[in-house]
Amino acid sequence: MTIKHILGNWKMHGQKKQAIELTQAIVAFKIPENVKTAVFPPFTSLHIVASELIASKIALGAQDCSNEIGGAFTGDISTLMLAEAGCKYVIVGHSERRAQHNESSELVKHKAEAAISAGLIPVICVGENIGERESGTYLQAITKQTKDSLPSLAHSSKFIIAYEPVWAIGSGKTPSLAEITEVHKTIASLLSYDTSVAKHDAVKTAIVYGGSVKPENAREILASEGVDGVLVGGASLKAEEFCKIIESAA
Ligand code: PGA
Repeated sequence: MTIKHILGNWKMHGQKKQAIELTQAIVAFKIPENVKTAVFPPFTSLHIVASELIASKIALGAQDCSNEIGGAFTGDISTLMLAEAGCKYVIVGHSERRAQHNESSELVKHKAEAAISAGLIPVICVGENIGERESGTYLQAITKQTKDSLPSLAHSSKFIIAYEPVWAIGSGKTPSLAEITEVHKTIASLLSYDTSVAKHDAVKTAIVYGGSVKPENAREILASEGVDGVLVGGASLKAEEFCKIIESAA
Protein backbone atom coordinates (compact mmCIF):
# COMPACT_ATOMS: atom_id res chain seq x y z
CA MET A 1 0.00 0.00 0.00
CA THR A 2 1.43 3.36 -1.02
CA ILE A 3 0.86 5.96 1.65
CA LYS A 4 -0.10 9.46 0.45
CA HIS A 5 -0.09 12.54 2.70
CA ILE A 6 -2.81 15.11 2.06
CA LEU A 7 -2.09 18.23 4.10
CA GLY A 8 -4.34 21.30 4.27
CA ASN A 9 -2.70 24.62 5.10
CA TRP A 10 -5.47 27.06 6.04
CA LYS A 11 -3.04 30.01 6.38
CA MET A 12 -4.58 33.12 8.03
CA HIS A 13 -8.15 32.35 6.99
CA GLY A 14 -11.37 31.96 8.92
CA GLN A 15 -12.38 32.22 12.53
CA LYS A 16 -13.97 29.79 14.96
CA LYS A 17 -17.22 29.29 13.01
CA GLN A 18 -15.49 28.52 9.71
CA ALA A 19 -12.92 26.31 11.42
CA ILE A 20 -15.64 24.19 13.04
CA GLU A 21 -17.73 23.92 9.87
CA LEU A 22 -14.75 23.03 7.70
CA THR A 23 -13.48 20.44 10.18
CA GLN A 24 -16.89 18.82 10.60
CA ALA A 25 -17.32 18.52 6.84
CA ILE A 26 -13.91 16.86 6.43
CA VAL A 27 -14.46 14.55 9.41
CA ALA A 28 -17.72 13.34 7.83
CA PHE A 29 -15.77 12.17 4.78
CA LYS A 30 -14.43 8.60 4.69
CA ILE A 31 -10.64 8.80 4.46
CA PRO A 32 -9.16 6.04 2.25
CA GLU A 33 -6.90 3.59 4.05
CA ASN A 34 -3.71 4.65 2.29
CA VAL A 35 -4.20 8.35 3.02
CA LYS A 36 -2.74 10.29 5.95
CA THR A 37 -4.53 13.62 6.27
CA ALA A 38 -3.86 16.63 8.44
CA VAL A 39 -5.25 20.13 8.68
CA PHE A 40 -3.21 23.19 9.70
CA PRO A 41 -5.54 25.85 11.16
CA PRO A 42 -4.40 29.21 12.58
CA PHE A 43 -3.04 28.98 16.17
CA THR A 44 -6.21 30.34 17.77
CA SER A 45 -8.34 27.60 16.20
CA LEU A 46 -6.06 24.69 17.17
CA HIS A 47 -7.95 23.77 20.35
CA ILE A 48 -11.40 23.89 18.81
CA VAL A 49 -10.29 21.92 15.75
CA ALA A 50 -8.52 19.38 18.00
CA SER A 51 -11.79 18.72 19.83
CA GLU A 52 -13.63 18.22 16.51
CA LEU A 53 -10.95 15.76 15.35
CA ILE A 54 -11.20 13.45 18.37
CA ALA A 55 -11.94 9.91 17.15
CA SER A 56 -11.26 10.87 13.53
CA LYS A 57 -8.36 9.73 11.35
CA ILE A 58 -7.42 13.33 10.62
CA ALA A 59 -4.40 14.78 12.37
CA LEU A 60 -3.76 18.34 13.50
CA GLY A 61 -0.84 20.57 12.54
CA ALA A 62 0.32 24.12 13.13
CA GLN A 63 1.61 26.54 10.50
CA ASP A 64 4.80 27.61 12.28
CA CYS A 65 6.66 27.31 15.58
CA SER A 66 9.51 28.87 17.51
CA ASN A 67 12.95 27.30 17.49
CA GLU A 68 13.10 28.01 21.24
CA ILE A 69 11.68 25.78 23.97
CA GLY A 70 10.39 28.65 26.11
CA GLY A 71 11.33 32.01 27.60
CA ALA A 72 11.12 35.70 26.77
CA PHE A 73 9.98 35.41 23.16
CA THR A 74 6.90 37.62 22.89
CA GLY A 75 4.44 36.42 20.30
CA ASP A 76 6.12 33.08 19.65
CA ILE A 77 4.68 29.59 20.19
CA SER A 78 6.88 26.66 21.23
CA THR A 79 6.69 23.15 19.89
CA LEU A 80 5.84 21.86 23.40
CA MET A 81 2.80 24.16 23.41
CA LEU A 82 1.77 22.83 20.00
CA ALA A 83 2.16 19.23 21.13
CA GLU A 84 0.01 20.01 24.17
CA ALA A 85 -2.62 21.59 21.90
CA GLY A 86 -2.92 18.25 20.11
CA CYS A 87 -0.66 18.85 17.10
CA LYS A 88 1.13 16.01 15.37
CA TYR A 89 2.71 18.13 12.63
CA VAL A 90 4.10 21.63 12.19
CA ILE A 91 4.98 23.44 8.95
CA VAL A 92 8.39 25.12 9.03
CA GLY A 93 10.04 27.31 6.40
CA HIS A 94 6.95 28.04 4.33
CA SER A 95 7.97 30.50 1.61
CA GLU A 96 5.55 33.09 3.03
CA ARG A 97 7.47 32.99 6.33
CA ARG A 98 10.84 33.00 4.58
CA ALA A 99 9.80 36.05 2.50
CA GLN A 100 7.58 38.01 4.89
CA HIS A 101 9.45 37.26 8.13
CA ASN A 102 12.96 36.96 6.77
CA GLU A 103 13.38 33.39 7.97
CA SER A 104 16.70 31.83 7.01
CA SER A 105 17.27 28.15 6.27
CA GLU A 106 19.38 27.98 9.43
CA LEU A 107 16.41 29.13 11.51
CA VAL A 108 14.15 26.67 9.67
CA LYS A 109 16.57 23.85 10.54
CA HIS A 110 16.44 24.83 14.22
CA LYS A 111 12.64 24.97 14.12
CA ALA A 112 12.58 21.49 12.57
CA GLU A 113 14.88 20.20 15.32
CA ALA A 114 12.70 21.81 18.01
CA ALA A 115 9.66 20.12 16.44
CA ILE A 116 11.31 16.69 16.46
CA SER A 117 12.44 17.16 20.08
CA ALA A 118 8.82 17.80 21.06
CA GLY A 119 7.65 14.68 19.22
CA LEU A 120 6.15 16.62 16.30
CA ILE A 121 6.72 15.89 12.62
CA PRO A 122 8.01 19.01 10.86
CA VAL A 123 6.85 19.63 7.29
CA ILE A 124 9.90 21.44 5.93
CA CYS A 125 9.11 23.64 2.91
CA VAL A 126 11.60 24.38 0.15
CA GLY A 127 11.21 25.71 -3.38
CA GLU A 128 12.68 27.96 -6.01
CA ASN A 129 11.48 31.44 -6.95
CA ILE A 130 10.57 32.44 -10.48
CA GLY A 131 14.01 33.93 -11.20
CA GLU A 132 15.74 30.68 -10.24
CA ARG A 133 13.30 28.65 -12.35
CA GLU A 134 13.71 30.85 -15.43
CA SER A 135 17.49 31.12 -15.21
CA GLY A 136 17.78 27.34 -14.89
CA THR A 137 19.49 27.48 -11.48
CA TYR A 138 16.52 26.00 -9.62
CA LEU A 139 18.07 22.62 -8.83
CA GLN A 140 21.13 24.25 -7.27
CA ALA A 141 18.90 26.66 -5.32
CA ILE A 142 16.65 23.87 -4.03
CA THR A 143 19.64 21.67 -3.17
CA LYS A 144 21.24 24.40 -1.08
CA GLN A 145 17.99 25.38 0.61
CA THR A 146 17.16 21.76 1.43
CA LYS A 147 20.62 20.93 2.80
CA ASP A 148 20.63 24.09 4.92
CA SER A 149 17.10 23.51 6.26
CA LEU A 150 17.33 19.84 7.18
CA PRO A 151 17.65 18.52 10.71
CA SER A 152 20.18 15.78 11.29
CA LEU A 153 19.54 12.83 8.95
CA ALA A 154 19.40 10.48 11.89
CA HIS A 155 15.83 11.74 12.09
CA SER A 156 15.02 11.22 8.42
CA SER A 157 11.83 9.26 8.89
CA LYS A 158 10.59 11.86 11.31
CA PHE A 159 10.13 14.75 8.91
CA ILE A 160 8.34 15.52 5.67
CA ILE A 161 9.72 17.74 2.93
CA ALA A 162 7.31 19.87 0.92
CA TYR A 163 8.51 21.01 -2.49
CA GLU A 164 6.65 24.25 -3.11
CA PRO A 165 7.84 26.40 -6.03
CA VAL A 166 7.23 29.96 -4.82
CA TRP A 167 5.79 30.98 -8.22
CA ALA A 168 3.20 28.17 -8.06
CA ILE A 169 1.75 29.14 -4.68
CA GLY A 170 -1.68 30.73 -5.03
CA SER A 171 -1.00 31.51 -8.70
CA GLY A 172 -2.92 28.76 -10.46
CA LYS A 173 0.34 27.78 -12.21
CA THR A 174 2.05 24.43 -11.62
CA PRO A 175 5.23 22.87 -12.93
CA SER A 176 4.81 20.02 -15.41
CA LEU A 177 4.68 16.52 -13.94
CA ALA A 178 8.18 15.85 -15.31
CA GLU A 179 9.44 19.00 -13.59
CA ILE A 180 7.86 17.96 -10.28
CA THR A 181 9.44 14.50 -10.52
CA GLU A 182 12.83 16.01 -11.40
CA VAL A 183 12.85 18.09 -8.22
CA HIS A 184 11.47 15.31 -6.03
CA LYS A 185 14.23 12.98 -7.30
CA THR A 186 16.83 15.64 -6.61
CA ILE A 187 15.58 16.09 -3.05
CA ALA A 188 15.36 12.32 -2.55
CA SER A 189 18.95 11.95 -3.75
CA LEU A 190 20.06 14.40 -1.05
CA LEU A 191 18.52 11.99 1.44
CA SER A 192 20.19 9.17 -0.51
CA TYR A 193 17.02 7.37 -1.36
CA ASP A 194 16.09 6.05 -4.78
CA THR A 195 12.48 7.09 -5.49
CA SER A 196 11.95 4.05 -7.70
CA VAL A 197 12.84 1.57 -4.96
CA ALA A 198 9.62 0.75 -3.18
CA LYS A 199 11.26 -1.28 -0.43
CA HIS A 200 12.48 1.96 1.12
CA ASP A 201 8.87 3.04 1.63
CA ALA A 202 8.72 2.11 5.28
CA VAL A 203 11.63 4.31 6.29
CA LYS A 204 11.99 6.93 3.60
CA THR A 205 11.20 10.59 4.14
CA ALA A 206 7.96 11.61 2.47
CA ILE A 207 8.34 14.35 -0.14
CA VAL A 208 5.09 16.13 -0.93
CA TYR A 209 4.31 18.72 -3.59
CA GLY A 210 2.57 22.06 -2.93
CA GLY A 211 1.49 24.99 -5.11
CA SER A 212 -1.92 25.41 -6.78
CA VAL A 213 -3.04 21.84 -6.11
CA LYS A 214 -6.74 21.51 -6.97
CA PRO A 215 -9.20 18.64 -7.50
CA GLU A 216 -8.52 18.98 -11.26
CA ASN A 217 -4.76 18.32 -11.06
CA ALA A 218 -4.40 16.36 -7.81
CA ARG A 219 -4.79 12.90 -9.28
CA GLU A 220 -2.00 13.21 -11.84
CA ILE A 221 0.33 15.00 -9.43
CA LEU A 222 -0.25 12.32 -6.77
CA ALA A 223 0.40 9.59 -9.34
CA SER A 224 3.75 11.13 -10.39
CA GLU A 225 6.96 9.33 -9.53
CA GLY A 226 8.46 10.47 -6.25
CA VAL A 227 5.35 12.33 -5.05
CA ASP A 228 4.26 11.13 -1.60
CA GLY A 229 1.43 13.59 -1.15
CA VAL A 230 0.36 17.20 -1.49
CA LEU A 231 0.34 20.34 0.65
CA VAL A 232 -2.80 22.24 -0.28
CA GLY A 233 -3.48 25.92 0.45
CA GLY A 234 -6.51 27.58 -1.16
CA ALA A 235 -8.34 24.37 -2.05
CA SER A 236 -8.10 23.11 1.55
CA LEU A 237 -10.48 25.87 2.66
CA LYS A 238 -13.39 24.29 0.78
CA ALA A 239 -14.34 20.92 2.25
CA GLU A 240 -15.68 19.62 -1.03
CA GLU A 241 -12.46 20.41 -2.91
CA PHE A 242 -10.22 19.12 -0.13
CA CYS A 243 -12.18 15.85 0.09
CA LYS A 244 -11.97 15.42 -3.69
CA ILE A 245 -8.19 15.76 -3.41
CA ILE A 246 -8.17 13.18 -0.61
CA GLU A 247 -10.26 10.87 -2.77
CA SER A 248 -7.89 11.20 -5.71
CA ALA A 249 -5.08 9.78 -3.56
CA ALA A 250 -6.93 6.50 -3.00
P1 PGA B 1 -1.91 27.06 -2.70
O1 PGA B 1 -0.89 27.15 -1.45
O2 PGA B 1 -2.43 25.65 -2.75
O3 PGA B 1 -2.99 28.06 -2.40
O4 PGA B 1 -1.13 27.40 -3.92
C1 PGA B 1 -0.03 26.10 -1.14
C2 PGA B 1 0.80 26.47 0.07
O5 PGA B 1 1.18 27.64 0.23
O6 PGA B 1 1.11 25.60 0.90
